[in-house]
Amino acid sequence: MMYTVRIESLDREIECRDDQNILDACLRAGVWMPHACTHGTCGTCKVDVLDGEVNHQDASAFALMDFERNEGKTLICTATPESDVTIDADVEAEEGVEFHPVKDFVGTVSALEDCARETRRVVVDLDQDIVFNAGQYVQVRIPGDDDVNRSWSVASPPGQPNQIELNIRRTPGGRGTDGWVFKDLEVGDTVQITGPYGRFFFRQARENPVIMIGGGTGLAPLKSMVRHALENETGQTIYLYHGVRGQADLYDGEYFRELQDEFPDQFHYRPCLSDEEGVEGTSSGLVTDVVMEDFDTLRGHVAYLCGPPPMVEASLKMLIKKRLFPRDTYREDFFDSSDKATGGVRSPLMRTS
Ligand SMILES: Cc1cc2nc3c(=O)[nH]c(=O)nc-3n(C[C@H](O)[C@H](O)[C@H](O)COP(=O)(O)OP(=O)(O)OC[C@H]3O[C@@H](n4cnc5c(N)ncnc54)[C@H](O)[C@@H]3O)c2cc1C
Ligand code: FES
Repeated sequence: MMYTVRIESLDREIECRDDQNILDACLRAGVWMPHACTHGTCGTCKVDVLDGEVNHQDASAFALMDFERNEGKTLICTATPESDVTIDADVEAEEGVEFHPVKDFVGTVSALEDCARETRRVVVDLDQDIVFNAGQYVQVRIPGDDDVNRSWSVASPPGQPNQIELNIRRTPGGRGTDGWVFKDLEVGDTVQITGPYGRFFFRQARENPVIMIGGGTGLAPLKSMVRHALENETGQTIYLYHGVRGQADLYDGEYFRELQDEFPDQFHYRPCLSDEEGVEGTSSGLVTDVVMEDFDTLRGHVAYLCGPPPMVEASLKMLIKKRLFPRDTYREDFFDSSDKATGGVRSPLMRTS
């Protein structure tokens, strides 16, 4: 069954199936709506339902509380229409930013490599070019009878549109990683991919120096941004911090060191080990402490934070102490199913990019 969804603030109408979430219908129709996790966890896609009925589906009880449901709010990344619907949302236009419609892709795994402890690099050739902004992510369908997908950030740059690189960390007991990527997935396998998603991407128009902090595989979207910025000579000075526990968790160090040699004025790479000391070419300590030490102030910078929610949260607080505030900070929290069930880490200061 097909319903009409009217987005009041944009004066737009789109068609949405009764088994399709409203965000998906919007993004496929080229109507940009704010979103981040696309799994009912972060609350970024919350809208007011002005008219009609929706089914909230499996929105997290923390991201969409009972009183909000009673007030007529919903999360459009999970909600499906049960009638024609009118919604209203704050959709901020951002100058110099182009959003690209979501599409479906069939991919073939062309390379699979254990690049660090419990971390796999998966390279996928696509059946058609993907147009995206550096830092965005895709959803990959997990094999099974149900319709389950997982979000993984694209580590390759937009200038390489027919092949994407993903950096995936194993989550013990996780269905997509432990149960598939680290178990059955092989070179030559076919994978179903949808994308691009998210608002965590490189703001090319902002000329300020850039601080990037990635925890573990939170490096992935930052790698895409760094490559995009350097290959396109966007001009910003970039400081990339990669925070991990030990040397075994680091990956792509040689690649970033070569980039640093090639662009000595524009790119600075700093791997940080929280649990090991004295490893050549690395700093020891929590990545947040290392950044604290390196800068007297971060006023006038722009920051990109990505990785496990507690690291992103700690980085945000550290940046504020250094006079870099949330309006100049873009963040991507790698929420998983446990965050959806427990509420994850939320900050009143939070601006999900
Ligand atoms: C925008 C975005 C981008 C991301 N990009 C990346 C990336 O580039 N690389 C990367 O490695 N990860 C990334 N992630 C995280 C990724 O999407 C997955 O969450 C992660 O890979 C784990 O998936 P999984 O299927 O293995 O685990 P899941 O099946 O989601 O399980 C995760 C954990 O939760 C537990 N769990 C499951 N269900 C419940 C429940 N009901 N209650 C309590 N606990 C439960 C599981 O036992 C497990 O420990 C990203 C996340 C987001 C939101
Ligand atoms: S995008 Fe809908 S809750 Fe995160």
